[in-house]
Amino acid sequence: MTQAPVNVTVTGAAGQIGYALLFRIASGQLLGPDTPVKLRLLEIPQAVKAAEGTALELEDGAFPLLAGIDIFDDAKQAFAGANVALLVGARPRTKGMERADLLEANGGIFKPQGEAINAGAADDIRVLVVGNPANTNALIAQSHAPDVPAERFTAMTRLDHNRAVAQLAKKLNAPVGEITKLTIWGNHSASQYPDIFHAEVGGRNAAEAVNDEKWLAEEFIPRVAKRGAEIIEARGASSAASAANAAIDHIHDWVLGTPEGDWTSMAVPSDGSYGVPEGLISSFPVRCRDGKYEIVQGLEINEFSRTRIDASVAELAEEREAVKKLGLI
Ligand code: NAD
Ligand code: LMR
Repeated sequence: MTQAPVNVTVTGAAGQIGYALLFRIASGQLLGPDTPVKLRLLEIPQAVKAAEGTALELEDGAFPLLAGIDIFDDAKQAFAGANVALLVGARPRTKGMERADLLEANGGIFKPQGEAINAGAADDIRVLVVGNPANTNALIAQSHAPDVPAERFTAMTRLDHNRAVAQLAKKLNAPVGEITKLTIWGNHSASQYPDIFHAEVGGRNAAEAVNDEKWLAEEFIPRVAKRGAEIIEARGASSAASAANAAIDHIHDWVLGTPEGDWTSMAVPSDGSYGVPEGLISSFPVRCRDGKYEIVQGLEINEFSRTRIDASVAELAEEREAVKKLGLI
């Protein structure tokens, strides 16, 4: 081992995504083959035993990069010294629950977690919120961590990005590896906008290669935006392995960089770019280098895109208003 272990805190560790995620972190896919990791798992008390079971299996993996596993049911302890935090555990919407109830229930999770990150995480902490509603949960956590630079709080739209890449590749009969510069804008919800106008396929503009606005508007965009629901309908449970895969991709690229000549999509606090109100945690095209991300600037936004970006951003602004009213931020 060439360096000190990196502390990776994972919440909701005993859940579906947790099970798909932890083994890949332990195998080095999150931070690369030279970086040992210590896992710090956070669960609610009733699920600690299940997390302990997963820890036994992790031990049985004999992963050379896994330098330790600790399990907690207390957020302050779980985030102490964390360098990377994957906030996966969240309160799902249940029957009869209104939107405000959902936001409030998640406020009860993400407010104390934000406070715990503020109190004890390492100076280089990077946070990815996966638990839904991911963008607004990230906003809640961030607003309770005033001592942590705001840009360290991000939410996951990489699954949407990967879904869009796969659908576009299929349409163009091209390998996924040839698709670059695709962008997800806005919220991780059905209002998100997957944008192919700047995307390329083997270096050629993807929108021109598709040349089919009907397919774009009526098939591609709704398919990507509603893919989460399609998976739930087919599997009887929400996406897990693909979500874990996207979480790995998000942190991997943030820490180790996006490939030359490409970018990715991350929901990050807006600096006002592309008319997105400052502070909203909205998905943008981002490039990562030297452990930092930056929003890709200067893209021309056509009318087709503008309307759709604005609609998703308006939904984020409404969610921010709702959690403000509830006193959660
Ligand atoms: P799951 O129900 O299988 O697991 C969630 C786990 O979180 C459970 O083990 C639960 O005990 C735990 N948990 C609940 N409250 C907690 C708390 N306060 N602290 C720590 N742990 C807590 O759910 P899952 O399938 O793993 O999905 C997790 C979340 O990820 C859901 O909100 C889901 O909607 C979301 N999701 C997001 C994306 C995305 O692209 N952003 C994709 C898929 C799923
Ligand atoms: C997904 O995009 O697969 C999930 O966010 C769906 C969900 O509601 O958990």
